[in-house]
Amino acid sequence: MTFLFNSDARRGAIFREVLARELPDLPFEIDPAKVEADDVRYMITWLVPPNLGIYRNLEILFSIGAGVDQFNASSVPAQAKIVRMVEDGIIRMMQEYVTLAVLALHRNWPIYLDQQRQQQWRAVPQPQAQERRVGVLGLGMLGQAVLERLQPFGFPLSGWSRNPRAIEGVTTHHGADGLDLLLSTTDILICLLPLTEETRGLLNAELLAKLPRGAALVQTGRGAQLDQAALLAALDDGHLSGAVLDVTDPEPLPADHPLWRHPRVLITPHVASVTQPESAALAVARNIKRHRAGLAPVGLVDRSRGY
Ligand code: NAP
Ligand code: GLV
Repeated sequence: MTFLFNSDARRGAIFREVLARELPDLPFEIDPAKVEADDVRYMITWLVPPNLGIYRNLEILFSIGAGVDQFNASSVPAQAKIVRMVEDGIIRMMQEYVTLAVLALHRNWPIYLDQQRQQQWRAVPQPQAQERRVGVLGLGMLGQAVLERLQPFGFPLSGWSRNPRAIEGVTTHHGADGLDLLLSTTDILICLLPLTEETRGLLNAELLAKLPRGAALVQTGRGAQLDQAALLAALDDGHLSGAVLDVTDPEPLPADHPLWRHPRVLITPHVASVTQPESAALAVARNIKRHRAGLAPVGLVDRSRGY
């Protein structure tokens, strides 16, 4: 019975130490050449290795990140559970990033950055927080955590999910009708949806047109959810006032992509949340203990939903 770590050596050293402390009976290996494939019960990776099928006794395939869209679930042996990363570091960092992005858009930061480049000293009208409606697509681990962090600022908050969810202080919507309602009442839209067949390309021209004029976007889900040409068109005709993009399609954007130089767009290189190895290793150890006790791991992916 072996735990195979398939990622960088720095994080691997931390995982090795934490798992040796938490699960001393579980051999840990970074080099796949040093293990018998049949001994591997647990693996953590970002991408599914092409030879995954050789691990016939794999019980859990852990994603090193919160998302699992990079896994092609059909290539994961049927008996293996797929588990995404649920750990405090990812949550805390996403709360910071989205708060930063929402405040930047709320306080007209893209406009002021542009004006600074042109040495212009000019105040623009500043709505108060209670007049700026913030809507979050996705009310899972991250969407809920972000909404909790935004509460003290006084923005009217709403959120959208597949199934009905109740969150204190947040107007919640679900399903197709719920999406239109959320869009029509949102000035800053945050996307924290997983990438699935249903959410691929969801942020398209039609959806953006349903936002009120002057609305802005924070994209922290996955690049393939956003039609970037539609975003550019909406920014250029003034329907949208700005965007903060942490994820793009492709990553990185080609050097000549117009989003790089758009005056109303702030781009970061997919850094909103980064898995923190100490807390991630503890989360994995707890999940293996749960699994051994016959409990479902935290972050278990429903293969039929894709998240
Ligand atoms: P999660 O806990 O699985 O939550 C997903 C949420 O999205 C749920 O509320 C779910 O609805 C909703 N949803 C999924 N499909 C939907 C659909 N078709 N219509 C409406 N709602 C839908 O995921 P999470 O941990 O919050 O993470 C969300 C995503 O953030 C990840 O998948 C990843 O792509 C992205 N992410 C990005 C970064 C970054 O650095 N940029 C870092 C981490 C994660 P229900 O509640 O009804 O199931
Ligand atoms: C990063 O994007 C993650 O999924 O953790």
